[in-house]
Amino acid sequence: MKPFYITTPIYYVNDKPHIGHAYTSLACDMIARFKRLDGFDVKFLTGTDEHGQKIEKAAAAKGVDPQDFVDEVSQSFRQMSKILDLTNDDFIRTTEPRHKSAVQHLWKQLVDSGNIYLGEYAGWYAVRDEAFYQEDEIVDGKAPTGAEVEWIKESSYFFKLSAWQQPLLDYYAKHPEAIQPESRRNEVLRFIEGGLKDLSISRRTLKWGVPVPGDADHVMYVWLDALTNYLSALGYPNDGYQKYWDQAIHMVGKDIIRFHSVYWPAFLMAANMAPPKTVFAHGWWTVEGEKMSKSLGNAIDPVEMVDTYGADAFRYFLLRDLSFGQDGDFSKTMFINRLNTDLANAYGNLCQRVLSFIYKNADATIPTPGEFSAEDKALMTMPAALLPALRNSIDNFHLHRYAEAVWQIIGEGNRYVDAQKPWALKKDDPARMSTVLYSLCECIRQIAILTQPILPDASAKISAMLGQEKNDFSMLGVALKPGLKIDEPQPLFAKYS
Ligand code: MSP
Repeated sequence: MKPFYITTPIYYVNDKPHIGHAYTSLACDMIARFKRLDGFDVKFLTGTDEHGQKIEKAAAAKGVDPQDFVDEVSQSFRQMSKILDLTNDDFIRTTEPRHKSAVQHLWKQLVDSGNIYLGEYAGWYAVRDEAFYQEDEIVDGKAPTGAEVEWIKESSYFFKLSAWQQPLLDYYAKHPEAIQPESRRNEVLRFIEGGLKDLSISRRTLKWGVPVPGDADHVMYVWLDALTNYLSALGYPNDGYQKYWDQAIHMVGKDIIRFHSVYWPAFLMAANMAPPKTVFAHGWWTVEGEKMSKSLGNAIDPVEMVDTYGADAFRYFLLRDLSFGQDGDFSKTMFINRLNTDLANAYGNLCQRVLSFIYKNADATIPTPGEFSAEDKALMTMPAALLPALRNSIDNFHLHRYAEAVWQIIGEGNRYVDAQKPWALKKDDPARMSTVLYSLCECIRQIAILTQPILPDASAKISAMLGQEKNDFSMLGVALKPGLKIDEPQPLFAKYS
C-alpha cells in the first residue's frame, strides 16, 4: 500500500476549539478517509501546541501551573476529534517526551550543520502570533496582523535563515506543488524574494518551553518546537519515519503559511531533510459577516453544533459550502438551508422514498431485477464512473467539488424516481417495478460508498440497510445482491426551520 501522510496544525491550548480549528481538521479528515477507501496506507496526525509565552500567560491568568493548564485544555481538542468523528491515527502533544527528544535532536542537527549561532535579539514580538516582526512591518504600533507587540532585547540563538533564501527559491521553482493554492505560493515567493533575515529561535526570559540542548538558560522558540511535531509523531529520528515523511501534506490556515513554507522547509533543508511535499493554506471563516473574536463572543462552538445538528450535518456544511482555499462566511440561514436542501430533501429523500417504498410495497425485500433499460444502466453506472473525478478533487484540494459532483447524481436519482413512477408500476407492471427499485438500490449503495468521507454516520447507516459490510472503493463495482430483507427505514436527516 502506498503511504500517505496528512497533518493538521497543532492547536494552541490557550482557548477551547472553535469552527476554525474544526475546519482545518475536517478537511484533513475528509482527505484521509478518501485515501483509506482508495487503498492508501494513511497516517493522519493532529494534536496540540502547548509551549510558549501565549500559553504561559494564559495559565498565569487562570492562576494555574502551565502543565496542569495544558493537560486540561488539550483534552478539549482530543474531545473535538471524537465529536467531529475524526479518524486521526495519532494525537501529539508538544509536552510529551517523544516530542521533546525529537526537537532536541533536530536542534543538534542544526548546530552540527553550522546553522545556529548565539547573538542578541532586539525587536518586536507579538505574543498572540508568537512571531517576531521587523520595525518596517509595524503598523500603528501593532503587528501587521493587528496583534499587540512588545519590545524584546535579550541574548538569543539564531538560525541562519538568510543562507536559505536562494535554496528555498530554487526548491520552489522546481516544486510548484509544494505551496498551494497558487495565490499563496506567490505570496510566499514575494516574501522570500524580499530578503530573509536570520531568525531568533530561543528565548531567555521564558521558562515554558523545550530547553536548548547544552544551554539550560534558553528555551526554544515555540514555532521551531511546534513545527517539529510533524516529525516527532513519525518517530524521528528513528528509522522508518521517512516512509511517511516523503509524502507529507500539511493543511494549514492562511495565517500560518509563512511558518510552514519559509521557516519549516529551511530548518529541514539545513538538517539535510526534504521539505514537506505540499503545504495547502485554506481560507478563514467569518460568522454572520463578522470576524470571530472574544469580545464579540461570536465563535461557533463545534460541540454545540454537533449536539444540535449532529456531526454529519456540521461536516457537510463546512466541506461543501466554501470553495476550498477561499474565505467564507458562516451564516445560520445558509447552514439551515443547506441541511434542508441537500441532506433532508435530496439525499435523505432519495433513500427514504426508495427504501420505504420497498418496505411497504415490495415485501421489504431488495427485488430481483429483470432486463435493464438504458436509463437503468445509466443510473447504476454513474456513481462508480465518478470516482476518477472525485480522486482529482481530493488530490487537487477542490474539496467543495466533491459533494457538488456526488449531489448531482443524487439529483439524477430523484429525477429517475419521478420519471419511472414505481408506485404506478406496482399495478401496471410489477416486474418492471422490481427492476426500477433494484436499479435505485444499486445506485444508492454506491452513493453511500462515495459519501463516507463527508458523512460517515449516514453513509454507514445506508450501507447497513442494504446489507453492505465492506465499503471501500473496490466495492463500487460489486453489484448488490437481490433478496435481502430490509428493516423499516428511519429518516436519515432532520429538517429544520
Ligand atoms: N499553534 C499554531 C499552529 C502550529 S502548527 C506547527 C496555531 N494554532 S491555532 O490554534 O491558533 O490555529 C490553528 C488553525 O486554525 C490554523 O490553521 C488557523 O488558520 C485555523 N483558524 C483559526 N481561526 C480560523 C477561522 N476563523 N477560519 C478558518 N480557520 C481558522 O496557529
